[in-house]
Amino acid sequence: MPRAYWLKKYELGVPAVDEQHGSLFKVINEIDDAIRSGKGAEVVGRQFEFLLEYAHQHFKDEGALLEGLSTRGILYHKAEHARFEAELVARHRRYLKNPTALHAEGFLMFLADWLVNHILKVDMDLKVAAQAANRPNT
Ligand SMILES: [Fe+2]
Ligand SMILES: [Fe+2]
Repeated sequence: MPRAYWLKKYELGVPAVDEQHGSLFKVINEIDDAIRSGKGAEVVGRQFEFLLEYAHQHFKDEGALLEGLSTRGILYHKAEHARFEAELVARHRRYLKNPTALHAEGFLMFLADWLVNHILKVDMDLKVAAQAANRPNT
């Protein structure tokens, strides 16, 4: 997989949320490196706890920004978060039942798809909401 580079243009202007997005790029690169050195399943296994906690906190933090979107935008965005979290929980359960069946490449694709189709597309709607929230009311 090509390296996932965090670029300034991806920033929403909300430091906590931007940092969280950046850390997902790091996790993706780490898993990619691990796959190359034959340690994919081991590293994904170690990342589950972090990712579950990450998703929970990140979606909570984005919640405040979501209020700046249209009702339709909020519903769609929240549904996407719920879908990702449910998929992550399901993958974790399958892993706990049978760790040796974990397919690290498949897991990497799941995260990469989220990065490309959610963080770099859907989350970009939050940029406008964040800018509006940061603007002084004068
Ligand atoms: Fe996000
Ligand atoms: Fe989001």
